[in-house]
Amino acid sequence: MQAPNTSSSVHIDLGDRSYPILIAPALLDDAATFADLPKGGAAMIVSNVTVAPLYAQRLRAALTGRFKTIHTVTLPDGEEYKNWQTLNLIFDALLANECDRKTVLFALGGGVVGDMTGFAAASYMRGIAFVQVPTTLLSQVDSSVGGKTGINHPQGKNMIGAFYQPLRVVCDLDTLKTLPDRELSAGLAEVIKYGPIADLAFLDWIEANMDRLLARDVDALAHAVQRSCEIKAWVVAQDERESGLRAILNFGHTFGHAIEAGMGYGKWLHGEAVGCGMVMAAQLSCDLGLVDAAFVKRLRTIIQRAGLPVIGPRLNPDDNAGRYLELMRVDKKAEAGEIRFVLIDGPSRASMRGAPDALVRSVIDACCA
Ligand code: NAD
Ligand code: GLY
Repeated sequence: MQAPNTSSSVHIDLGDRSYPILIAPALLDDAATFADLPKGGAAMIVSNVTVAPLYAQRLRAALTGRFKTIHTVTLPDGEEYKNWQTLNLIFDALLANECDRKTVLFALGGGVVGDMTGFAAASYMRGIAFVQVPTTLLSQVDSSVGGKTGINHPQGKNMIGAFYQPLRVVCDLDTLKTLPDRELSAGLAEVIKYGPIADLAFLDWIEANMDRLLARDVDALAHAVQRSCEIKAWVVAQDERESGLRAILNFGHTFGHAIEAGMGYGKWLHGEAVGCGMVMAAQLSCDLGLVDAAFVKRLRTIIQRAGLPVIGPRLNPDDNAGRYLELMRVDKKAEAGEIRFVLIDGPSRASMRGAPDALVRSVIDACCA
C-alpha cells in the first residue's frame, strides 16, 4: 500500500451533515483550516488543564478575525472527570458568557474532551455547532469521527450521550509530538482494530511499520490516521446510529469497557483496555471456531509490540470471570441482559454474536492474570 502525502482529507458522507476530516501537520497555525465555518459570532474553545497550555493560544490565533469573541473553558484532565459535573462546567461557561445559539464549540483535546464537548453541543439550547480538534492519536483515528458523544456513568462506560456530528474534524499531526508514549500506544490500539474488522492489508501495513509508528514518523502517522478515518467514515456513512454494521467498531470494547469500569475509570487507559479486550475477543472467536489460533497469536503479538498490555487484570479476587460478566451485561450492545460480542469471523470481517457464559468464563480465565 502506498504511503500518502502527509496532507490529506477524508470526506464523511452523511447527506446534509457531511463533513471533512482534515489531516496534516501545522493545521492549527493556519486560518485556512477554519475557513468557511460560520463567521462573526462567538466561539468557545473547550480544552483541559494539560492541552490548553500547549495549544489553546494557537487555536485562538487561528480563529481570531473569524469570531467576534473567543472564550475558553478549561476542564480537569482524566477519564474519571468524564461525568455530569465536568459537563456542567461547559454549560456554566456558556451561560456565564451569554453564548447564544450561533456559538461554535471547539473541542481541543483527546477523546474525553471531544466526547464531552460534543454532548454539550448536542444539548446546549437543543443543539449548537461544534468542531473537533483532536490532539491524541486515539481521538484522531476514532473518537472525533462519527458523532458519538457522551459521558460515563459509574455503572457503565459512555452510557449517557447523543449522536451528534461535528462541522469538521481537524487532525493536526504536529500535536502528536507532545503526546506521552503511553497515550501513543493507547491510540495504536484503535488503529490496529481496523485491520481485523475491515482491512487485513492495513493490518499487514501496521505490522510492517510498527517501529515507524512508535518513532512518530510523520508519514507513517499520516497514513495510519488517514486509513483509519477512511474505514471509520465508510462504516459510519452506512450506519450512523449503530443499528448494525457500526457495532464492528467496538471490537475488543465489550471486554475493554469491563476492564475500564471494573478497575475504576482512568486506571487503565481506554486504548489499553481495548487492546487487551481485542486479545480476549480474538480468543473467544477462536474458541467458537471462527478463527484459528495463529490469528490470535499474531494479533496478540502486534498489540504487544504497540506497547499495550495483553493480559487482563483481575477485577475480583474471588470470582474474576463473574465480575467481568456482571460488568459486560451493562453494555450498550447487550440485549435483554444477553452480552453481545464483536467477533472476528473471516478475513477482514466481524459480526456481533452471543456466546455461552461458560465459554466466556474460560476465555477470561485464560486471558487474565
Ligand atoms: P484522553 O482524552 O484522556 O487523552 C489522553 C491524555 O492525553 C490526557 O491526559 C490528555 O490531557 C492528554 N493529551 C491530549 N492531547 C495531548 C497532546 N497533544 N500532548 C500531550 N498530552 C495530550 O484520552 P483519549 O485516548 O484521547 O480518548 C479516550 C476517550 O475517548 C474515552 O473516554 C473513550 O470512551 C472515548 N472514545 C470515544 C469514541 C467515540 O466514538 N466517540 C471512540 C473511542 C474512544
Ligand atoms: N468507536 C466506536 C464508534 O464510533 O462507533
